[in-house]
Amino acid sequence: MKRILSGHPWIYDNEIKSVSPDVNDGDIVDIFDWRNKFVGKGYFNSKSRIRIRILTRTDTEIDRSFFEAKLRGILRRKREYRNGSFRLIHSEGDGIPGLIVDKYSNFLVIQVNTLGMMKLKPMVVDVLVDLLNPRGIYEKSDSSSLKKEGVKEEKGWIYLDGPSLIPFEYEGIKFFADVEKGQKTGFFLDQRENALMLRKYAESKRCLDVFSYHANFAMNILKGGAIHVELVETSKRANDNVELMMKINNFKNFKIIDENAFDYLRKLDREKEKYDIVVLDPPAFAKSNSNKEDALRGYKEINLRAMKILRNGGILATSSCSQVVKREEFEGMLKSAAKDVKKKLILLHRGGQPPDHTILLNVDETEYLKFYIFKVVDLGF
Ligand SMILES: C[S@@+](CC[C@H](N)C(=O)[O-])C[C@H]1O[C@@H](n2cnc3c(N)ncnc32)[C@H](O)[C@@H]1O
Repeated sequence: MKRILSGHPWIYDNEIKSVSPDVNDGDIVDIFDWRNKFVGKGYFNSKSRIRIRILTRTDTEIDRSFFEAKLRGILRRKREYRNGSFRLIHSEGDGIPGLIVDKYSNFLVIQVNTLGMMKLKPMVVDVLVDLLNPRGIYEKSDSSSLKKEGVKEEKGWIYLDGPSLIPFEYEGIKFFADVEKGQKTGFFLDQRENALMLRKYAESKRCLDVFSYHANFAMNILKGGAIHVELVETSKRANDNVELMMKINNFKNFKIIDENAFDYLRKLDREKEKYDIVVLDPPAFAKSNSNKEDALRGYKEINLRAMKILRNGGILATSSCSQVVKREEFEGMLKSAAKDVKKKLILLHRGGQPPDHTILLNVDETEYLKFYIFKVVDLGF
C-alpha cells in the first residue's frame, strides 16, 4: 500500500482484499484503501498479475475530457519536441498506463499493451486526432504483454492512411520508421539523442555499429565525418531499409554485415581487427529477473570483445535496454569486463532515455535505457 500511496500506479493481485462482483475485465474501477478511503480510479484485469493500473487519484470521470486534459499537459511538457519526431505518450511515465504513442513527422503510431487501454482506445484516438491533426494513425498493438492480458493483436491504419515506411528527419539525417513490419513502433526513438552525441567523436574514425537496426548510430557517425562504418545486424528487412536510407542520405562509406553479433565480435577479436569507435545496442537480453544472470553474461561477452577490438584510446558506446538490469549491475558488469581485458574505462558520458520517454523516479519500471560513452585505455598506459 505504501508503494501505491507514494505514486506507483500498479496494484497486484495479492494487494486486493475484495472486488465487487459486477466488475468485468477491462472495466474502470474505484479503488479504496483498508479504511475505505478513496485512493483513485484505474482499469481492472483478472488475467493479469497487475490487477489494476491507476489512471487518476481524484474522483473524476474517465471520459474524453479526462484524456484531453492529460494530453494537453503532456504536450505542454514536451513542447520543445512538438514539431519533430518523438515519443508523445510513454505509458505509465506519462500517466496513461498501457499506451505508447510515437510521432514520426506528422504521423502517429500507437501501441496498446493492456485490455483496459484497448477499451479506452477509441476515446484516446479521438483526442489525438483533435489535438494533433495527424496525417494518419497506425496501430501496432502486437506486444507479448497484450497476449498475456488475453487480448488479440490489432494492426493497421486506424485513422486515414499512410506509407509503410514513414520518412522523418532528425538533425539533418533522413530516416524511415518501418511502421508496418519493423520492430517496436518502427524506429528506436529512444537512442536518437545518444546517437547524436556520438557524432562529435566520429571525425576520420573507423567504426563498428553492432546491433544496428535502422543505422541510427551508423548514420550519425557518418554525418560526423567517420571514414567507414560496418553495421552488424541480422534483420534482413532492417538491412534492406538501411541500404535505402544510406542512398537517400548519400552515405557511401559503409558495409552491412548480416551475421550474429556474438560470432562476428569473436571473429574480429581472433583476427586482431582494430576500430576507433564501437557501438553496442543489443536487444533486451533480460525480460525478467529470472534470466538476469544470463543476460549479464551476454552483456559481458559483447562488451569485453568490444574493448579488445578497440585501439588504445578508442571509444566504446554501450547500452542496455533491459529494464530489470539496474544501472549498478550494468556498471558492475562493465568493470568486470574491463578488469579481465586490462583496460581503463574513462567515462565521457553516462545517460539513458531522453526526457520524452518520461521517467518517474518513484516508478522503477518507467526507466529502462542505460547508455555510456567511454574512452577505453590500456591499463598500463
Ligand atoms: C535495440 S535494437 C538496435 C537499435 C539501433 N541501434 C538503433 O539505435 O536504432 C537491437 C537490434 O539487434 C538486432 N539483433 C538481435 N540479436 C542479434 C544478433 N545476435 N546479432 C545481430 N543483430 C541482432 C535486432 O534485429 C535489432 O535490430
